[in-house]
Amino acid sequence: MAQIFLTGATGFIGRHLLPALIQANHHVRCLMRKTVNAKTLQHCSVYQGDLLQPQPWEPAIMGANTVIHLASAHRGTPELLHRTNAEGTAQLVALAERAGVHKFIYLSTLTAAPKPQWPYAYSTWLAEGAIQQSSLDYTIVRCSVIVGPGDPFLGGIIKIAQRWPVVPVIGDGQTRFQVLDVRDVVRCLLQIVREERFSKKLLSIGGPEALSYEEIVDRVLVALRVRKRKVHVPRRLTRWLVSRLEEWGVHTPFAPGHFLSRDHCAQSLNVLQEHFGFIPKTLRHTLEDAFAP
Ligand SMILES: NC(=O)c1ccc[n+]([C@@H]2O[C@H](COP(=O)([O-])OP(=O)(O)OC[C@H]3O[C@@H](n4cnc5c(N)ncnc54)[C@H](OP(=O)(O)O)[C@@H]3O)[C@@H](O)[C@H]2O)c1
Repeated sequence: MAQIFLTGATGFIGRHLLPALIQANHHVRCLMRKTVNAKTLQHCSVYQGDLLQPQPWEPAIMGANTVIHLASAHRGTPELLHRTNAEGTAQLVALAERAGVHKFIYLSTLTAAPKPQWPYAYSTWLAEGAIQQSSLDYTIVRCSVIVGPGDPFLGGIIKIAQRWPVVPVIGDGQTRFQVLDVRDVVRCLLQIVREERFSKKLLSIGGPEALSYEEIVDRVLVALRVRKRKVHVPRRLTRWLVSRLEEWGVHTPFAPGHFLSRDHCAQSLNVLQEHFGFIPKTLRHTLEDAFAP
């Protein structure tokens, strides 16, 4: 049983991970910016605070042997992305080292890259660097797009397909995604908490299929049993539209801006089986669950 300090528990993945950690009898201390009314919080310790202002919550990390770091920003100004993802992570790493934490688990993205022109990708790449240079026993898990109940990507496409008269397909629709069900990500994280064999590893993971954006849209339409016309929208126009909408506070499934411009695939379609020994859900399974009566 681990003593876990968890950031990002109110986010999409955190909302799935926290109950699973509690179910597995781990002791969890959560850092949260806002109070939320969730049953699971009765079974963990909550520390209210901001990742970027550690003074009030610093004592919470003392005595933890594992940090799971999910807090991040993927939309907003480049400065916010840098401060939250790069600086916030570096600061948390330093605190974890001082507190004598053993294991540091960071959920990163397959898009992490040393490319300052992509602020989100760059900020997560810097975060990974800070972790790798530390003395901690880290595991960095670079993920493809994660889907499942409450996710903004597939959930966003579903809403568009349900409500809009036509379904936009970005560019030629051929950007590929190895979508991964959030419940499978949780299974992987539980194994990493439990086992030592993932120590000092950077893993790149994705689901069992590499699907183009247009194929994902097609599968959503089939699952919804609706016929809608698809309209290809030039990539540049989409990027421009997405940035304007995000500036006005309208969240789209397509942030950050470079999201639809490059493939999000790990090297192998069997990667979860190879590293974690189980067969992950296909998109069809995730969609069936989403529309189960
Ligand atoms: N979702 C995916 O498809 C995907 C794919 C690959 C990698 N990942 C990685 O997985 C991790 C979790 O992603 P997610 O989808 O769960 O993200 P999310 O839904 O956007 O949640 C982000 C979490 O971070 C918290 N947070 C942000 N800034 C904070 C700050 N300054 N102080 C404290 N908490 C802060 C948010 O708190 P509030 O509720 O207060 O805003 C929220 O709990 C991220 O590192 C992300 O890069 C996600």
